[in-house]
Amino acid sequence: MKKFVVVLAAGKGTRMKSKLYKVLHKVCGKAMVEHVVDNAKGMNPEKIVTIVGTGAEDVKHLLEGKSEFAFQEKQLGTGHAVLTAAPILEQETGSTMVVTGDTPLFTTETFENLFKYHQEKENAATVLTAEAPNPFGYGRIIRDEQGNVLRIVEQKDGKPEELKVKEINTGVFCFDNKKLFEALKKVTNHNAQGEYYLTDVLEILRNSGERVGAYKMPDFSQSLGVNDRIALAKATKIMQRRINEEHMRNGVTFIDPDTAYIDSDVKIGNDTVIEGNVVIKGKTVIGNECVITSGSRIVDSKIGNNVTVTSSTIQESVMHDNTDIGPNSHLRPNAEIMSGAHIGNFVEIKKAQIGENTKVGHLTYIGDATLGKDINVGCGVIFSNYDGVKKFHSNVGDHAFIGAGSTIINPINVADHSFIAADSTITKDVNRYEMAIARGRQVNKEDYWHKLPLSKDKDWE
Ligand code: UD1
Ligand code: CA
Repeated sequence: MKKFVVVLAAGKGTRMKSKLYKVLHKVCGKAMVEHVVDNAKGMNPEKIVTIVGTGAEDVKHLLEGKSEFAFQEKQLGTGHAVLTAAPILEQETGSTMVVTGDTPLFTTETFENLFKYHQEKENAATVLTAEAPNPFGYGRIIRDEQGNVLRIVEQKDGKPEELKVKEINTGVFCFDNKKLFEALKKVTNHNAQGEYYLTDVLEILRNSGERVGAYKMPDFSQSLGVNDRIALAKATKIMQRRINEEHMRNGVTFIDPDTAYIDSDVKIGNDTVIEGNVVIKGKTVIGNECVITSGSRIVDSKIGNNVTVTSSTIQESVMHDNTDIGPNSHLRPNAEIMSGAHIGNFVEIKKAQIGENTKVGHLTYIGDATLGKDINVGCGVIFSNYDGVKKFHSNVGDHAFIGAGSTIINPINVADHSFIAADSTITKDVNRYEMAIARGRQVNKEDYWHKLPLSKDKDWE
């Protein structure tokens, strides 16, 4: 049996009160609609059609290559939305799952279970339901005394007894494809919201003698629909727990999983320890046996094995094996820390390579530079890379020594085995085995003390 998927993502999301279109709001670093499409893709359907409307271009851009699109010009309701996919799907034979784009927590397994149940029961329509502790806002499943599903009633249309029902429509359905499109044409907008409801298809099919049913899943939390920012935060909490537990199962230690914020696509090796209050985002990959302490934020970076990151920020950078950084340091885009190197506290590095076993211990800025191995960079060194218009690049060779407080005015070549005396301002290249010293000479004036006004005020010796 061929499988098809329709993802509803054309609604504006008024309740989010946002410039950003609702289904593009992120849960653990990934837009809600992308979670839905990725998890649907896990079932290997023939086609996925995403219904786009407001913000169509942004959604299409995000899902390019993962989905086909149908355009719903006016948001006249979920039923109307599915109907816009008719030119792509109407002629197909198979089962079609419809899922709303604002329900990011469903797993591929749940979708598969729904399909299986739908096929086993030979239903024309099966709705995925769950028991909600607080069903407010969801469509309610109305059954007869034998437990057969009669219809779905929306919050705004329900009678008081109907609204007492706790079994809700999760927004996911499986349909016989051809029967779905036939029934959709019969849906009207005679209801409280004046919309064409997809949910009405169930009753229409039932009234024409088709089998309709419900597959009730045990875990309500997966069905959370995100209509406002409160639900967005709830969904994020649930997804975060799921992500962190998966890492724990794979051998990562979390000191406090409730405050470790790890995006969906992050990879972490085993025996790595993640303390509380850590943020790891985007495409970050972390190796084995690392320690990431609280206060760290790592974005789109690659961290090797046995790396310690202490309360530091790392963006779009690489730390190779056996390195460490922090506390309170910052790798800005394109920093690469080669293995064995040490980056201490209050160091900022941007677009620079720090060679093997090189030490940058304290209070330093390195921008646009290539440093070799076994270099010692003293405290308070600055690579001055910008003249207000252009950026310039410097090179420092292996085993060089850069004394504390020095300023390297890029572009400079500092050769290997050379030495820069502390507090030098380097404006010329330094050759192999040379020592460069570039600072004002000290002059000591003998007996100057007694000429100073302050020596007269008090009884100094
Ligand atoms: C819908 C269901 C409700 C269910 C709930 C589950 C209907 C009528 N109601 O209600 O039974 O309990 O989801 O979360 O189906 N959309 C379009 N075009 C439209 C209207 C909506 O694409 O014209 C999309 C929205 O972008 C959204 C999804 O459909 O992703 C659901 O719409 P929404 O307005 O959030 O429906 P709910 O009120 O949550
Ligand atoms: Ca919704």
